[in-house]
Amino acid sequence: MTARAFWLLCLIIGSAPEATVAERKASPTHDRKPDPGGAQSADNSPAPRLHSPGRDAETCARACRTDLDERESYCGSEFAVNGIVHDVEVLGKGIRLVTLLVDRDGLYKMNRLYSTPDGFFFRVHILALDFSSCNKPCPEFKPGSRYIVMGHIYHKRRQLPTALLRVLRGRVRPGDGLVRSNSSYVKRFNRKRDGQVQGAIHTQCI
Ligand SMILES: *[C@@H]1O[C@H](CO)[C@@H](O)[C@H](O)[C@H]1NC(C)=O
Repeated sequence: MTARAFWLLCLIIGSAPEATVAERKASPTHDRKPDPGGAQSADNSPAPRLHSPGRDAETCARACRTDLDERESYCGSEFAVNGIVHDVEVLGKGIRLVTLLVDRDGLYKMNRLYSTPDGFFFRVHILALDFSSCNKPCPEFKPGSRYIVMGHIYHKRRQLPTALLRVLRGRVRPGDGLVRSNSSYVKRFNRKRDGQVQGAIHTQCI
């Protein structure tokens, strides 16, 4: 179909692309979090369908990475540990401070991750940021359960937005872990996953 024919068809049907864009702009989006996918977001969908369950699931899946692979995450992370969730403190919407108890075998990769000895364990603090709009917090951190956690290390204030720093009020210190729902690996510990991480430790990351 030629471009001219396409435009004619649009005129006849009455749904020129501009109209669709204008509709999208006018749609009520204020009750949703900013889309982490940015421009890629709804471009392939024919019409805005906010609030439909399908789209919520899509937004949830995009900002809650449960599909990450152990090896790739290990290589791309500054720290990797497995530990039992000791407590979870909610500091704000989508902002949690998690204390993990990690035993010696759970210290896969430390770099400068700060840990304090506590009996048989090492205590590690992790700031978990949830950018998803899932029904359940993402990632999941259930007290008493053991997780494999891989992410980045908080070094300095400018790593985080000022508004977030205000909410944190100095509760997160340099050396604490930082996990984001849209990029960090957090999964329940099991032997298979542990084996994959151990494998990554013993092969070179490129
Ligand atoms: C995750 O989401 C935050 C906030 O929307 C964004 O700043 C960051 O770039 C995202 N990271 C990835 C890897 O998509």
